[in-house]
Amino acid sequence: MYTHRPQGRAAGRAALAALAALALAAQACSEETVAPAPGPTPPGIPYAGPGSLSAASGKGSFRLGAASAATQIEDRNPATDWYVFTLPEDEGGLGKGAAFVGDAARGYTKAIEDVALLREMGLDSYRFSVEWARIEPRRDAVDEDALAHYDRLLDALVEAGIRPVITLHHFSNPVWIDDPRHTDCAPGPTDENLCGFGHPEGGPLVIEELAEHAALLAERFGDRVDDWGTLNEPFNYLLAAYGAGTFPPGKATLFGDLLGDFVPVLRDYLLAHGAAYRAIKAADRGDADGDGEAADVGLSLSAADWVAARDHQPSDDPEDVGARDRMAYVYNHLVVDTVLGGQLDSDLDGAPDLELPGVAGTLDWLGVQYYFRAGVTGKLGGIVPVLALTPCVNGLDFGACLAPVDPTFCVPAMRYEHHAPGLYNVLTDLGERYPALPLVVTESGIATEVGARRAEVIVRALEQIERARALGVDVRGYYHWSLYDNFEWAEGFAPRFGLYTVDYGTYERSPTLGAEVLGEIARGRELTGALRAAHGGDRPMTPEATAPEGLERCLGN
Ligand code: BGC
Repeated sequence: MYTHRPQGRAAGRAALAALAALALAAQACSEETVAPAPGPTPPGIPYAGPGSLSAASGKGSFRLGAASAATQIEDRNPATDWYVFTLPEDEGGLGKGAAFVGDAARGYTKAIEDVALLREMGLDSYRFSVEWARIEPRRDAVDEDALAHYDRLLDALVEAGIRPVITLHHFSNPVWIDDPRHTDCAPGPTDENLCGFGHPEGGPLVIEELAEHAALLAERFGDRVDDWGTLNEPFNYLLAAYGAGTFPPGKATLFGDLLGDFVPVLRDYLLAHGAAYRAIKAADRGDADGDGEAADVGLSLSAADWVAARDHQPSDDPEDVGARDRMAYVYNHLVVDTVLGGQLDSDLDGAPDLELPGVAGTLDWLGVQYYFRAGVTGKLGGIVPVLALTPCVNGLDFGACLAPVDPTFCVPAMRYEHHAPGLYNVLTDLGERYPALPLVVTESGIATEVGARRAEVIVRALEQIERARALGVDVRGYYHWSLYDNFEWAEGFAPRFGLYTVDYGTYERSPTLGAEVLGEIARGRELTGALRAAHGGDRPMTPEATAPEGLERCLGN
């Protein structure tokens, strides 16, 4: 069971929470928001307490949390692939991406004090990742100090009544997994460079290493952690790291032999998921949430709201509708189909054909991460020939990029459209396709410098989740991305996703209106009608302060 706050400290905490609420309210007053919706106040949405992510007893429960990832927030991290990938060339790195990750948001040094941010908002859960490179900076050399650090963080969370959800692999590796400086891997796998997922000899070694790492964490932390996510957004990650080469290791296979080069990477990554799932189940002995399972293991999926498009307009041409369906299948469904069924559709023709040993049925819950709506066209035969389609991503605009439903829905920092009902679309689609699988929104959010926009995104996401739940879709929580501003991977530090904004000079965290609103919801365990009237619905959002003029289309990032 999770420990409850000791009685003696309750009064002090209440005073702190009241002070925090006041500070947040002051911030709230200083920002302009759109006028409240005309007409009657919508009904409030009450939330039951948090529960099991996978057991039947968790149906109807709801978590209100925030998420982060180690590489994006932590300082002093030279053993990660992102460090060497983004380190300037004159300092021995590759100088890739918009900025050097450096000290990120100092989230390692400030980890324990950052727990207060979650507590002040009254959130009941925190999803974060443990940096593999920190635990194992060299192959098979475990750093006990790093384990002790995460141990202290877990104690602080549990003591604050906040359920930890650990992500095992969130877009980063120790350098020795697939050294971005030596991607040809000429000598074959060595302890300094295993050559990465997809390599004929190195791939199986990487899978084994990730499973060992998972077992170590489950052994050490399983008494306080029940909820484990193995992988974060597998398809998205692999597209960037091994498809387009914009993430380390920087291998760009997408435009070459997609089936021969990219699919083996996907195969290995999903085999690694299966191995990690089994390793956690075997090593985790403590049933922290009392649901009868020592470990509830899932993964988080990036799901987009794909729309058939042609010549910058929504389209009902069968060519575009087919292209949209193929895109939704590969991006939103393929990973889950494979992990549930144990067979990969290795030629992407819609039918699974390759047995992945040990993978079938390794999913207790599914994390859903929604950020954008984007068009897909079948015109021109497509830039992805195997799939005969062209999506509006990575700035590609072959007619698939659409005008946003409203100009204020464009997210200039990410060049895509955040359309709240897209979350409803993906949840109902996934709920229909996988009716027995509990869902939880493990990420959703917006890059913005305007607190009112963040508040709108939070309230509208919760409204869309409620629409899906009203249809019987089993959604067990919402985690806002992110707790505070951080390193947005290849985009650097410009996009700000935080509930708390970070001053990169002092590393001070300050609440946005988003933190105030999510805090009000979490502390009261209700999205009130008043908050819905102020921030919800499908009206235009508060405009971005620095939006360029004339955003006719959001050109996917
Ligand atoms: C990732 C996060 C990222 C967020 C915003 C998700 O794809 O899991 O690491 O920061 O989106 O782009």
